Amino acid sequence: MNKSFYITTPIYYVNDKPHIGHAYTTILADVFARFYRKKGYSTFFLTGLDEHGQKVQQAAENKGISPEKHCENMVPRFTELWKKLHISNDDFIRTTDIRHKKVVQDILMKVFNSGDIYEAEYEGLYSVSEERFITEKEAEMSHFRDIKKLKEKNYFFRMSNYQQSLIKHIEENSNFIQPIHRKNEILGFLKKPLNDLCISRPKSRLNWGIELPFDNKYVTYVWFDALINYISSPGYGENINHFKKWWPASYHLIGKDILTTHAVYWPTMLMSVGIELPKTIFAHGWWLMKDSKMSKSLGNVIDPINLIDDFGVDPVRYYLMREMVLGKDASFTVELFKSRYNSDLANDFGNLLSRVTTLIRKNFNGQIPEPYDLGAEENKIKNESSSLIKSFNQLMMEMKLNEAIELTIKFISNVNKYMEKKAPWKFVNEDNLEAGKVLYTAAESLRINAVLLSPIMPNRTKILLDIFRAIETDENWGGLIPGTIIKDHKPLFPRIK
Ligand code: MSP
Repeated sequence: MNKSFYITTPIYYVNDKPHIGHAYTTILADVFARFYRKKGYSTFFLTGLDEHGQKVQQAAENKGISPEKHCENMVPRFTELWKKLHISNDDFIRTTDIRHKKVVQDILMKVFNSGDIYEAEYEGLYSVSEERFITEKEAEMSHFRDIKKLKEKNYFFRMSNYQQSLIKHIEENSNFIQPIHRKNEILGFLKKPLNDLCISRPKSRLNWGIELPFDNKYVTYVWFDALINYISSPGYGENINHFKKWWPASYHLIGKDILTTHAVYWPTMLMSVGIELPKTIFAHGWWLMKDSKMSKSLGNVIDPINLIDDFGVDPVRYYLMREMVLGKDASFTVELFKSRYNSDLANDFGNLLSRVTTLIRKNFNGQIPEPYDLGAEENKIKNESSSLIKSFNQLMMEMKLNEAIELTIKFISNVNKYMEKKAPWKFVNEDNLEAGKVLYTAAESLRINAVLLSPIMPNRTKILLDIFRAIETDENWGGLIPGTIIKDHKPLFPRIK
């Protein structure tokens, strides 16, 4: 099989420690990487850090340390969180890596040689926090802080040259920008003439960046530098076979805040160098606290570490994946977290598991019972499981993650109802065979559910599979082996009070 899947997260600024928003995109990418890996695709999952630019230089200055030192201090904040969250990335790119810098300079040289970079004096309003020249109109909108008038000689990328080709590409490739309302947003933006992009910063003002290969008095604009990580990591210009194996990326996952840079700057840069465009740029919504975006400046960020320490990694992963409809905003509240946990995980999933294993231990010497000939109701569940598997996989491929998860919970809740109705604990002594059939059915349903949910909750589902000694990753009915002795276990999802 030669199918490959390459997924990326944005590379995060190291000006501050990660919060739940950063954790969200990274878990999301991890879930898809695990899903495709399990489906037999060779998978490459990239995340990393954006270490250059004004924001980082400023953060270092505030602490009175060099930007290098600041980055070294910040890197573990991210890598340790990813470890804690069981992020299975295949590479971790830092824009201060030599391998990355080389590619950025190589691309700059290529764009320069092709005539797509020119020098010009520009006078305009500059937003320090946004790190770019802004229009008068933008300046009127009060949310830009630190605006100053700047007159500067800089280098510009002829982005405008590619406006028509970009529009054509977006129109011809319906999956290029997803979801569709984001695609329409970009097409709307492209109705107006596209400006060229200022891609340099004079060192006199900012020196924490990659030097322009054709003028050492300047460093590269942080976005022109950062976007290139997606090709520098898989080895553009260095390792041709490796690069060819992964590029074009299957998905660039991003938050809606950085859509323009990804859907306009990045593709036009690639067009200029003649590199294929990524297959899909997928923008998700924001996690909101009440009605505003979670952000450091608003002082309303949720620290993922606290949440993990209080409730466990997998429940946090589950909640974030279950609660956000991909593409829309979602509100984060600890109350909602607890109630989701209790209803989906503790009451349905965890409770069914405890019931099943307790009965097996008490009445079947701890051995998985024989299913024998399944009755009508058992067959109904078996059929439901096979349509669940189909729909789940289909929805995952369509990036409808929350719907896929909902189906698994619905299924488990149905199996719970079946257990209630059958109540095998009432007749296990009189009809051991029939009770065994019910328990086999419930246990097998739990196993299938665990296999499906394993990309979302890799740890807890592994515990469940271990209990039944089901190392099988097989999704289909019949994976449990009758006679197997089940393992003792603690409650998988103890109720939160
Ligand atoms: N360094 C740039 C990205 C360069 S990619 C070539 C950057 N970094 S960032 O640290 O600000 O991270 C932005 C990303 O973090 C968002 O696009 C999004 O994926 C994630 N999130 C940050 N806050 C978020 C929420 N409140 N909600 C959801 N995701 C958010 O921009």
